[in-house]
Amino acid sequence: MKYLNIRNIGKYTLAIMLSSMSFFSTSSCTQNKKTESFLSLKNGIGKDFLIGVAVNPNETSGRDTIGAALIVQQFNSIVPENCMKCAVIHPEENRYSWARADQYVSFGVKHHMFVIGHCLIWHSQLAPWFCVDSIGRNVSSSVLKQRMKSHISTIVSRYKGRVKGWDVVNEALLDDGTYRNSKFYQILGEEFIPYAFKCAHEADPQAELYYNDYSLFLPSKQHGVLHIVKSIRDYGARITGIGMQSHYSMEGPSIFQVHKAIDTLSSTGCKLMITEFDLTVLSLPNELNGAGIEQTEKYSMQYNPYAKSLPDSIKQVWSKHMKAYFDLYRSNKSKIERVTIWGLTDNYSWRNNWPISGRTDYPTLFNRDYTAKQFTKTLMR
Ligand code: G3I
Repeated sequence: MKYLNIRNIGKYTLAIMLSSMSFFSTSSCTQNKKTESFLSLKNGIGKDFLIGVAVNPNETSGRDTIGAALIVQQFNSIVPENCMKCAVIHPEENRYSWARADQYVSFGVKHHMFVIGHCLIWHSQLAPWFCVDSIGRNVSSSVLKQRMKSHISTIVSRYKGRVKGWDVVNEALLDDGTYRNSKFYQILGEEFIPYAFKCAHEADPQAELYYNDYSLFLPSKQHGVLHIVKSIRDYGARITGIGMQSHYSMEGPSIFQVHKAIDTLSSTGCKLMITEFDLTVLSLPNELNGAGIEQTEKYSMQYNPYAKSLPDSIKQVWSKHMKAYFDLYRSNKSKIERVTIWGLTDNYSWRNNWPISGRTDYPTLFNRDYTAKQFTKTLMR
């Protein structure tokens, strides 16, 4: 345990200490000694791989003082949950909206974090102008290439040397491993992926470049990724990593499935990232899994059983599943560069609103009051 003199600590640290004096049950904080224990994920599990979190503008602006403090104290990598998506950062062809992304990158650099950019090319949250002309028809392949190059070069160059890794292409595959029929695919075919990687590499040759997708525990989807990696290399472009999003539920995937995925995907020579890890306790109606935000269901009480609190029995099952996943990640630490949790606390998780809006879920490492869950403490040192 590490002890700090209270006069030497930053305002974020102070905020966290003041807000939750019982933050860790093993804490030996006594006010008259002006000390506090600093068990953290980055000093614990962070020794095996980078430990990251998806952040929002409230946190990176410091408006959420406690959240910002917790991120700095616990994590050594961040990814922006929304502010770098095309519709947000590049809403019109000749207009970029930099404020939130600039703030995000500055926050990460200031706190010496491994800063990730998310995401350059994605069919969802795509600015409406991007793939069509003024009357809504798909643009030609040359126009789309020019727009992609301009979009990617402008963003990647702006943060060159500060954003260390980019989700260059996100969710280009369907569960059966074939290409999603996105506007990018309709206009450019398979080439849109290697072309995006080429543009990103030209803009920042040092940056790590990732293909990121969900449900990669499905063998069909793994085959799709192997094909994409080969197509990027055949094109003469560079890919350094594969992001496994990992939006999981109590029903799975199994450790066996994820282990197989790690083996198969790492056989490409790419580094693996567990990029968007969360574990819902809520059932997914109609066997929805994955993370396709276009799949939604209507709210019904029966689908929101833990609105007031989570029973201990469910907490235990959740912890057991989380432990199994983290044990697997640890035992494959030579292949896994980073594990990123998708959201700081349960309160912020997208899971509360997908696939049904307005539920109360418990999928992250920290409770709604910013305290660490029992399981989370086992990852700290
Ligand atoms: O910011 C607007 C706000 O101005 C508006 O009033 C409000 C009304 O709906 O919407 C707000 O935007 C929402 C945004 O999150 C910020 O909260 C969007 O509607 C909502 O669709 C968006 O959801 C995000 C989703 O991606 C779609 O971009 C989730 O927060 C985010 O967690 C989720 O993240 C994705 C990854 O990027 C890719 N992998 C799957 C993962 C989960 O879907």
